[in-house]
Amino acid sequence: MFQTSVNSYKPHILIADDSRGIVQLLRSFCEHEGYRTSEAYDGFQAIQMTQTLQPDLVMLDMNMPKASGLDVTKAIRSDTHLFDIPIIMLTGLTGREERLKAVSAGVSDFQNKPVDREELMLRVRNMLRMKKMSDLLQEHNRELEDLVQQRTRELEKVLAEVTEANRSIHEGYAETINRLAVVSEYRDEDTGMHIKRVSLNSREIASALGMDSGYVENLGYAAVTHDIGKVAIPDQILLKNGSFTDLERSLMMKHTVIGAQMLSGSNSPYLNMAEKVALTHHERWDGSGYPNQLSGETIPLEGRIVSLADQYDALRTQRTYKPAFSHKKTYDILTLGDQRTSPEHFCPEVLSAFKRIHLRLEEIYQNFQDSLTLEDSLADTLSN
Ligand SMILES: [Fe+2]
Ligand SMILES: [Fe+2]
Repeated sequence: MFQTSVNSYKPHILIADDSRGIVQLLRSFCEHEGYRTSEAYDGFQAIQMTQTLQPDLVMLDMNMPKASGLDVTKAIRSDTHLFDIPIIMLTGLTGREERLKAVSAGVSDFQNKPVDREELMLRVRNMLRMKKMSDLLQEHNRELEDLVQQRTRELEKVLAEVTEANRSIHEGYAETINRLAVVSEYRDEDTGMHIKRVSLNSREIASALGMDSGYVENLGYAAVTHDIGKVAIPDQILLKNGSFTDLERSLMMKHTVIGAQMLSGSNSPYLNMAEKVALTHHERWDGSGYPNQLSGETIPLEGRIVSLADQYDALRTQRTYKPAFSHKKTYDILTLGDQRTSPEHFCPEVLSAFKRIHLRLEEIYQNFQDSLTLEDSLADTLSN
């Protein structure tokens, strides 16, 4: 093969002919031109030497013992390492049919015997030039392929680094959100399990509504901080045993606005959604909620979902003013209403999604009971 980086490289020619006289003659022509030569005296030897020496050009006699020039040509062309070596076939007065066979086997050019030195060397030079171009092209292609592979590996490495960075940012947000939420829950009659269950309930309802996995995941985090604003409510109101005065109730309602303010102004999609959830999870579809008496679709979907997810869990849980209700009773209250709750409070689509998957919420309630500690809850929420 050509060593393109070495200018003094002498092309190597294999001469195969059973006539020693012709071999000598051709060798002297070639060496006069500065080419290196090797000799083979039958077809079999020609194939072997082509394989081991990989010359830059082969001169072949048509009729040789053991394997004909045609057989040698076929063997060279069927080898992926040799297939582009130029072959000049030396022939006597062969007919058209024979020449066509040789061309279709892969012979590059012919030279009639007796050999005309000038013509043969001209053909050799042309063939070698073409071979050199072909080698250069192959080398260039190999370099390009190497470059593409190297760039691909670099890109894959960068992509893996970005993915890892995203994952740790994601975990950082998730942990911050959960820790914030745990802080708020420490002071409430709710436990860490309440936020866990509301988060899971919200995810279930969002999935049942056909929301995509990114939305469902964001909402799972956003729901965790729905009551974060309670950290700013004084203990005597937050932990009061008995009914609120009007002033206490209006202060209590402020946990929505305060929570939204705490979560506002972030670039994080979780926190942006969390802000909306904190602000609107007590709004009602019929406009009777707080803090802004929004109604219908002016309430963001995430607020509508968390509203029902939160109400379900509140009804299941014992409060100072009420016992814990069964799943059946809770289902009836949410879908049929009672003195405090009405189906009109909920987005009809969210309510009908709840009706489809209500047993999943019962499962979540049973699986995440309040006997677990806040730390368990935190670890558990982070691992989901
Ligand atoms: Fe709330
Ligand atoms: Fe809640």
